[in-house]
Amino acid sequence: MPKVTFLPDGITAEVPKGTSILDAGLGAGVRIGNACGGVCACSTCHVWVREGFASLSEQEDRELDILDKAFEVKPTSRLSCQAEVGDANVVVEVTPESLQTFYDEHPEERRKAQEAAAGGNR
Ligand code: FES
Repeated sequence: MPKVTFLPDGITAEVPKGTSILDAGLGAGVRIGNACGGVCACSTCHVWVREGFASLSEQEDRELDILDKAFEVKPTSRLSCQAEVGDANVVVEVTPESLQTFYDEHPEERRKAQEAAAGGNR
């Protein structure tokens, strides 16, 4: 089965072909936003694909329309809820926009991350 690695956390999930990047991440505990619940309506699941872009499912017009609303859109940008894994391994970077949304949805996780960061600076 193909593997999806999520940066900056470095978490890797092994998932069946056809699994969305978002589902792979959520199943592995990756901090990734998904304000609309994965129905291609919000752009908060935006990731930059570092490896394996060509192996992902094709982008449809609806995804491109929603992606237009995201911040820092790049040629390798995808909405992770719409990008399904093919045969190859994939490496993606969760965008700051997506991480921010995750923390907005999970304030307790933001607090834990802030405490961990403060602890690491001592
Ligand atoms: S989760 Fe909303 S567009 Fe992907």
